[in-house]
Amino acid sequence: MPLLPLFLVRWLAPLLWPLRALAARGWLREAEIDAVLGCLHPAWRLNRVMARVLGREWVSDDLLALRLRCNGNAHGWRAGQHVQLYLQLDGVRHGRSYSLTRVASGGTVELGIRRQPGGRLSNRILDHLAVGAWVELGQAEGELHWPARAEGVGLLAAGSGITALLGLLREALARGYAAPVTLLHYVREAGQRAYGEELQQLMLRHPNLQVRWLLTGEGAPVDAHGGRFHPGHLLGMSGFALLACGPAGFVEAVRGCWGGALQGEAFSPPRRVSEPGQAVRLGFARSRLEAWGDSARSLLEQAEAHGLRPAHGCRQGICASCTCLLLGGAVRDLRNGETFAEPGQPIRLCISAPLGDVHIDL
Ligand code: FES
Repeated sequence: MPLLPLFLVRWLAPLLWPLRALAARGWLREAEIDAVLGCLHPAWRLNRVMARVLGREWVSDDLLALRLRCNGNAHGWRAGQHVQLYLQLDGVRHGRSYSLTRVASGGTVELGIRRQPGGRLSNRILDHLAVGAWVELGQAEGELHWPARAEGVGLLAAGSGITALLGLLREALARGYAAPVTLLHYVREAGQRAYGEELQQLMLRHPNLQVRWLLTGEGAPVDAHGGRFHPGHLLGMSGFALLACGPAGFVEAVRGCWGGALQGEAFSPPRRVSEPGQAVRLGFARSRLEAWGDSARSLLEQAEAHGLRPAHGCRQGICASCTCLLLGGAVRDLRNGETFAEPGQPIRLCISAPLGDVHIDL
């Protein structure tokens, strides 16, 4: 039984700023402060976000809406962003990124979690995470936002890409957005039309909203009338601002045939730019480790191969959990070949490969 109720923990959270300042300067250890706070309430932490499961609701055959209440450390979160959810599985901490489909007052949030074939973490959450359990969340990331000025808004979601767009749609309609909105949701099978009932209700209440589901399973056509994405699906949306969310190939396909404003968010890694590897010297400053590496693999893989355990989540350049400072040398973004060589620049280890000898603040 916690010594303090959660509402008091949330209320007290901002008052811990002197401890935060001391921990940030290295005069106190955050882990030790967390250990003391954790004795008063299992969710009390100096900076980390702990959240209690309030409810679970299946919104399609393979997608669960998970409702949680956070301690007082979730600041400035917006629907449409994504957070890491961390769980210990067999003594190992795992994290995956999920979209915030709702952010309400009082620290209540909702995540959309889709079952992944063979996905250890998602399957554990879907099958075993009970109401009342505590989980840890990372801070929210992501730049998707509702377009401010456009004749209308087109939302294109493939699979679980609907989770990022639904949160934005819910908020815009609740605020009274009255211009036309077209939502196209591409799903393999009819049973994957997530949030279908809610979207039907929204269409009844908001005549400016049109939702179409397009089936992309085996034998689906690729033409202007249905099936997988086709430029003809964008007819009637000229002058609209588009938001596309789904696998990288889907987002690239939409981007490739749209000349107007578009925000895209891909939740699978785009094709990596590979280059022949050459031997480089790696310096991990805080670990006091110097080692040989190569210029082909990510710094995350190479750090792990040398026995380091950098924090990480998605391993796809999305969640930012693996961000470290580049102290010297240059790195290449494996997704697009872009290079970074500014000392003090934050880089994501999972998608950065060294271009030559590098020093990292790890
Ligand atoms: S692990 Fe998520 S950005 Fe690197």
